[in-house]
Parts: sequence; C-alpha cells; structure tokens
Amino acid sequence: MSWLADTRDSYDTVAESYAEFVADALEQQPYLKAALTLFAAQVDGPAVDVGCGPGHFTAYLASLGVDASGVDLSPAMVGLARRAHPELAFEVGSMTDLTLPDASVAGVLASWSLIHVPDDDVPVALGHFRRVLRPGGLLVIGYHVGAGTRLKTQGYGGHPMRVHIHLRQPWWLARRVRAAGFTVEAEWSLNPENEVSQAILFARASA
Ligand SMILES: C[S@@+](CC[C@H](N)C(=O)[O-])C[C@H]1O[C@@H](n2cnc3c(N)ncnc32)[C@H](O)[C@@H]1O
Repeated sequence: MSWLADTRDSYDTVAESYAEFVADALEQQPYLKAALTLFAAQVDGPAVDVGCGPGHFTAYLASLGVDASGVDLSPAMVGLARRAHPELAFEVGSMTDLTLPDASVAGVLASWSLIHVPDDDVPVALGHFRRVLRPGGLLVIGYHVGAGTRLKTQGYGGHPMRVHIHLRQPWWLARRVRAAGFTVEAEWSLNPENEVSQAILFARASA
C-alpha cells in the first residue's frame, strides 16, 4: 500500500527532528500528560504504544510502573526509541497488521498515529487493537478533530514528507470504535480554541 510506504519513509526522514520536537511535549501539554497518567493508572497489565515514534510516551508510561512496549511503522523511529530507552522493547510494525498475540495486553495507546490510517483501513487497525486487548482492557486514541484529509509535504524543520493526516469527528471515530467491540467511556477535547483541535478517546474492550 503506497500510503504505508509514504508514511514510513516520511517518518524515517524526520525521525531525529521529530524526537527533538516532542522532547518536552508532556511538560508543554499538561492535559495530555494527565490523560497518559490516567491511562497508566487504569491499565492492569502490559500496555503497547502503537505508533510510538521515538518512544517518549512509552517511557513515560514505564516511569509510572507500566510494563510498556512500543510498535512503530518507521524503522528510524524504532531505532531512536531503542537507543533512548534500551530497557524497553520496541518493534517495527503496522497497526494494520499487528503481530502481537490475541488478548496479550491490558492497554493500547494510539497517540496521533491512527491519524495516518485511511478511513477504509481504520476498522482493520481497530480490529487489531481489540484482538490484542484482553476483555476489559483500555484503548486510548489521540487524534485531530475535523473533517477531510490534509497532505503534509514537509515538517519538523522543513524536511520533505508525504503523509496524509485524516481529521475525524468524535462521533465518526466513536461509531467505529464501538463497532470494533469497545465501549466508549470518555472523550477529552484538547486545544478547543485552535483551528484544528485535538481529542483523546478512552474506550474499554467489551467482554
Ligand atoms: C505524529 S507521530 C506520533 C508519535 C507519538 N505517538 C506521539 O504522539 O508523539 C505518528 C507516528 O505514527 C507512526 N505510524 C504511522 N502509521 C502507522 C502505522 N500504520 N502503524 C504503526 N505506526 C504508524 C509514524 O511512524 C509516527 O512515528
């Protein structure tokens, strides 16, 4: 699929500058930090950070005592994550083809990574999240709110990229999350004053 190759190559290109860009993300974004802290408190077992980038959120979860690991499409991102956090496990992989065993984790974090998956493939990714989660496990998705798709052709210091960002309405995503076998428990709005706001969805895997 060309979107997968484009996304992987784009994040390979910007991996180093992205890591610098997000280095103090949690200090800059207290509400996001609170969401991750809540996720850590709710998760009773291993958790996987899908689309983990350079592993900064994976490491934050681990610092709170979570048995956290990461998966990312970009080998360069995974390389950075492994170097920065050698005590944690990071693997290259796509959320559309997760290789984790069934019911093997108690938490899935997809922080601004599902935004790159085209609408038609969202049920595939959500199906994998549900498959790898134990019943009662927690799914947290961070995303951009809106409608339509934006093509990002450069970023993080002007590096060339070719990555699509799919904006989503909360009802649109919640409907698909429910259809994948989850109960939506909460939805947080972040930066509601921005032209493109962000949101965090919390959902529980059904029994
Ligand atoms: C905007 S970054 C977010 C990184 C980190 N989760 C954060 O919130 O800062 C998007 C990340 O998702 C990864 N990604 C995109 N599509 C993916 C896919 N299909 N499977 C796994 N990771 C993916 C990219 O390689 C990139 O590292």
